[in-house]
Amino acid sequence: MKQVYFDNAATTPMDPKVLEEMMLFMKEEFGNPSSIHSVGRRTKARIELIRKQIADYLKATPSEIVFTSGGTEADNMAISCSVRDLGVTRIITSEIEHHAVLNTVEKVTQKKEVKLEFVQLDDKGNVDLNNLEMLLHDRTEKTLVSLMHANNEIGNLLPIHKVSEICNVNGAIFHSDTVQTVGHYPLDLSSGKIDFITCAAHKFHGPKGIGFLYVNKKLKIDSFIQGGAQERGLRSGTENSYGIVGLGKAMELAHKIMIEQKDDVLALKRYMKERLIEEIKDVRFYGNDEEHSLYTILNVSFPAFENADMLLFNLDLSGIAVSGGSACSSGSNQGSHVLNVIEKEEDRPAVRFSFSKLNTKEEIDYCIEKLKQILN
Ligand SMILES: Cc1ncc(COP(=O)(O)O)c(C=O)c1O
Repeated sequence: MKQVYFDNAATTPMDPKVLEEMMLFMKEEFGNPSSIHSVGRRTKARIELIRKQIADYLKATPSEIVFTSGGTEADNMAISCSVRDLGVTRIITSEIEHHAVLNTVEKVTQKKEVKLEFVQLDDKGNVDLNNLEMLLHDRTEKTLVSLMHANNEIGNLLPIHKVSEICNVNGAIFHSDTVQTVGHYPLDLSSGKIDFITCAAHKFHGPKGIGFLYVNKKLKIDSFIQGGAQERGLRSGTENSYGIVGLGKAMELAHKIMIEQKDDVLALKRYMKERLIEEIKDVRFYGNDEEHSLYTILNVSFPAFENADMLLFNLDLSGIAVSGGSACSSGSNQGSHVLNVIEKEEDRPAVRFSFSKLNTKEEIDYCIEKLKQILN
């Protein structure tokens, strides 16, 4: 059966060049980077080279990059360390953040005397910047603002630099979950106004279980995981050297083709939208217009129909892999917490189509045909 993978916001297939680079390294290098002999030192040197390359892409410095097991750990670390080490007593976030952020802020605000506030969103799910400014006007509490750069369900982009200015002027720490944008957009941290960003290699054709947290050098945080003081004492545990090599290669490839990839994938998203409008009655779209949305994600609201809850299952039977809302919350039957905040018509099924450089227009045509059959 034909297999079409339109769930690239959940994860992407590994690029064969990433796999090749990892295999070469795995075959030849097994050293522990903390060992002082040459076997260990070679691994250490490779890790430090990749740290420097990543820092260069972000216009940051190598000591600001801390390798983690991925996006979830990096988000946890930024938020938990802000409360524990930076005197944060108030967190402002939004109700449509990823659970890596929402569940962490909930936890830290339960345990400590830390207040949690949610910024207002407009009806498309965008952060109301005036409301953010108003909330930040009260400067009696040390505040952490945690707002994602791109929403993983509806694709809305945050004006990250504008938000960093607002936070900076008001003395707040700014963390942005950039898991959906690192490797997809160039990010320039040279202004020094963004304090934490996060990355997961598997979102841009790298391996799972590896990512990083960027920590602005002006912030002095303490270790998040205790042990042998790896990662400059911030994150103990023998480094995932194979993962780091894969992350490094995935970053390099992503940056090499970033502009063409954006154009190509955006053309697919546009084509999908046009074909849906042409072929399916009363189809609607969540989130922002093209200019203010991630080029990889198209979240579609279909008209209500009998067996609507079987839509994803039926697409799967036709070999089409997609998500309803976010794959990260699959298994729960509470629906998407993002759509629950912005959606008013609950009986309309929603499907998140998310594309990568590996998808084709022909796959979209196949998907449209299958959708027509299922909806009729
Ligand atoms: C916006 C966002 N943040 C965090 C994560 C978690 O990243 P990881 O899977 O590397 O733990 C994801 C993964 O879906 C995500 O989309």
